[in-house]
Amino acid sequence: MKLILLGAPGAGKGTQAEVICKHLGIPAISTGNILREALKSGTEMGLKAKAFMDAGQLVPDEIVIGIIKDRLAEEDCKNGFILDGFPRTLHQAEVLDEMLDRKGINLDAVIEIQVPDEIIMERILGRYACMKCGQGYHDKFQKPKVYGVCDVCGGTDFFRRVDDNKTTVQNRLVNYRALTYPTIPYYEKKGLLRCVDGTGTIEAVSNKVDSILGIK
Ligand code: AP5
Ligand code: MG
Ligand code: ZN
Repeated sequence: MKLILLGAPGAGKGTQAEVICKHLGIPAISTGNILREALKSGTEMGLKAKAFMDAGQLVPDEIVIGIIKDRLAEEDCKNGFILDGFPRTLHQAEVLDEMLDRKGINLDAVIEIQVPDEIIMERILGRYACMKCGQGYHDKFQKPKVYGVCDVCGGTDFFRRVDDNKTTVQNRLVNYRALTYPTIPYYEKKGLLRCVDGTGTIEAVSNKVDSILGIK
């Protein structure tokens, strides 16, 4: 299965990508996560991307296209992949099509997770993750079973993303509308677009995604 997850910041792309990854055993590829890892390792690419990310602006196309090109060439993408946060501009979508054409790969679906802005702010401002394994949590909607202890690795240190503040989220939403929205009709015309109401619980949204993908 070759999938793209589209949706505003905080819509639940990363959360649903993880669930699909567990159900189908295909890698979830988040350009945001790869850029944050690059920054943590102090690479030139990470340092270049930092100012854009901290301001809630898109990182230049050539950087993220390079990331995806390298990542899709890896062995674990042979049987499928889930793209989370890429493409985010029409140009990225067109280049991805060329890349996949050259490999003889067809996309199976582009899932747009729809969530209104009021809900998005609450989701993003309550988000945090485990420092050791990266597992995502939420103050209200996705608490660890034991307070302060990661369900997955037992870690007790957590972090919040630098770009998860009100001003930056507002910029990210503006950029989503201006630059990423045009990819929606692009995929609709290709007959690939599937829209999912992302306002229910994580499990409810996941059930809808599964039924679109014919998993259950
Ligand atoms: P990226 O990391 O992709 O951020 P984003 O698009 O802003 O999306 P988020 O990761 O914030 O949200 P999400 O949809 O994954 O939500 P999540 O599942 O975590 O990109 C960051 C930056 O990198 C960009 O701003 C840009 O600078 C750069 N970048 C990345 N890709 C790029 C590209 N292709 N081109 C250019 N620049 C690029 O959920 C959010 C919270 O809500 C969590 O706490 C979760 O627990 C909770 N939650 C999820 N679903 C539900 C639910 N159904 N009910 C209740 N709570 C829920
Ligand atoms: Mg994410
Ligand atoms: Zn952990």
